[in-house]
Amino acid sequence: MAFELPPLPYEMDALDPHISKETLEYHYGKHHQTYVTNLNNLVEGTDDADASLEDIIMKAEGGLFNNAAQVWNHTFYWSSMKPGGGGAPDGELGEKINSAFGSYDSFKEQFAKAGATQFGSGWAWLVDDGSGLAITQTANADLPMKHGQKALLTMDVWEHAYYIDYRNARPKYIDTFLDSLVNWDFVAANLG
Ligand SMILES: [Fe+2]
Repeated sequence: MAFELPPLPYEMDALDPHISKETLEYHYGKHHQTYVTNLNNLVEGTDDADASLEDIIMKAEGGLFNNAAQVWNHTFYWSSMKPGGGGAPDGELGEKINSAFGSYDSFKEQFAKAGATQFGSGWAWLVDDGSGLAITQTANADLPMKHGQKALLTMDVWEHAYYIDYRNARPKYIDTFLDSLVNWDFVAANLG
């Protein structure tokens, strides 16, 4: 069974003005779709055609890994944002952020730094690494499950994520992600 592009969890213009409809038309409609198409082309007629996305990610390398992981990463990224999101989380999640990082402001500073200092293309993550919450960064298509960590939140820092709306100003995109887009309900659900 072929892999399919999962539906966006909101309308194409729902994140405007922070992330424009044009960005989502390219980022979701073209980039994410291309990873799905490439993945299907790579697994067609192989033993991986019926494998789960996660199984492929865990065992594959090279182009197969890159396309499978990018399918997973983007699906996770869309759910990491919501209209009217961002700001400090409250409740139990807020307490966990405070105890892991000292304060929300400290979390925000460290997460923003992870995104800003990822050289070239990659991702910033909030993960559960088995001993608690941690902030990580990965290059290209790399992702936490490949390192034994559970992903809780991600931010795409490939240029295609922000160039239409922010040009080269990655830090401005990162601040907007944190202040206006983070879907803390999704993070709390991932914490379980
Ligand atoms: Fe992307």
